[in-house]
Amino acid sequence: MDRRQTIKLIGGGVVLAASALGGFATTRTPHDALAPWQKAGDYEDIRLFALSYAVLVPNPHNRQPWLAELIGDDELNIYRDLSKNLPATDPFERQLTIGMGGFLEAINIAARHRGYETETTLFPHKTEAHIATIKLSPRADMRPETDLLNAFHARRSCKEPFSENPLSVAHIKALSEFGEVFTDTDNVAHLKKLSWDAFKVEYATHHTLKESVDLMRFGKQQINATPDGIDIGGPMMEALILTGIITPEAMLDPNSSAYRQGLDIYDAMLNNTPAYILLKTSGNNRAHQIEAGRNWLRLNLMTTQLGVSLHPVSQALQEYEEMKPLYQEIHQSYAAGGETIQMFGRLGYGPRVPQSPRWAVEEKLI
Ligand SMILES: Cc1cc2nc3c(=O)[nH]c(=O)nc-3n(C[C@H](O)[C@H](O)[C@H](O)COP(=O)(O)O)c2cc1C
Repeated sequence: MDRRQTIKLIGGGVVLAASALGGFATTRTPHDALAPWQKAGDYEDIRLFALSYAVLVPNPHNRQPWLAELIGDDELNIYRDLSKNLPATDPFERQLTIGMGGFLEAINIAARHRGYETETTLFPHKTEAHIATIKLSPRADMRPETDLLNAFHARRSCKEPFSENPLSVAHIKALSEFGEVFTDTDNVAHLKKLSWDAFKVEYATHHTLKESVDLMRFGKQQINATPDGIDIGGPMMEALILTGIITPEAMLDPNSSAYRQGLDIYDAMLNNTPAYILLKTSGNNRAHQIEAGRNWLRLNLMTTQLGVSLHPVSQALQEYEEMKPLYQEIHQSYAAGGETIQMFGRLGYGPRVPQSPRWAVEEKLI
């Protein structure tokens, strides 16, 4: 951690910079909360094997809204736990559904690795909660995607400033398969401004900021006890929590230094971005959202393989009243054909960041 960052943090700078600490020091590592990363692939039953990878996928606010039910010998029911909804920032549960799309895609990738084909029926009962029924059958001619499966452990959402290095031509080409990549000066400046303006709206809107603050887990003990949400850990953070500089109340108070430093840190993060990617769908029903989630996971596994950092910046895509002008601006500028922009990502070359907490598969079985 550099000196400037240390001073910022001692001065009450925030929480939201948890990852700026460069990871957890040994004694403060929440090992229990990170154990599911080690256990992925450690299961004989093909369904548990696949689920052990699926619990590692990116998902909004790390809510991990999935539940799974084993049926007979070869079937799975996948549910979305509606108690994990994010009514302020995701009022139509679009982003949570995208997260479930990644979950289903992870099951496919992992099952294929072991020679199983998946037959997925989406929303079999036309209810919000029951996302899919999946039947797994062995097939002799399945082609495994070993590189993708091997990328699960190192995949991250990189919430850090990126270097000034432009995205290489080869990387732009590889990633353009998943969405529209922007590297030219005008579009990068416009998308940067949109991401930053939208962040400021979310931050200045009490009920959307409170939704995040309510999901913060402060320190190793809380992170291990509830390994989801926004983890605020590491020795420096724990010192600031113990001294009362970092509290949920300070995070919500625009006059506190914790609040102001949060803005500074996001300013540095969002504004150090050499490229962006937008993932769009022609419509915006649940199947489109699931498709976007599948695609986002594959993109993130590909960035992992290439050594490119990816960070979703969803604020401008959120569907609440205060965000409307920016939602309209991004769609008018980048989805003129009436498509829906499902994911907005920063791309570049950033530092290695720690894994984020997860609930174990066993905790997600019903
Ligand atoms: C639909 C969706 C929207 C997301 N939006 C944001 C976002 O706006 N800002 C952010 O920092 N992370 C965002 N994320 C990333 C999650 O915060 C992240 O996946 C989660 O905390 C787990 O971390 P990991 O991906 O590093 O495992 C989003 C993820 C998904 C799937």
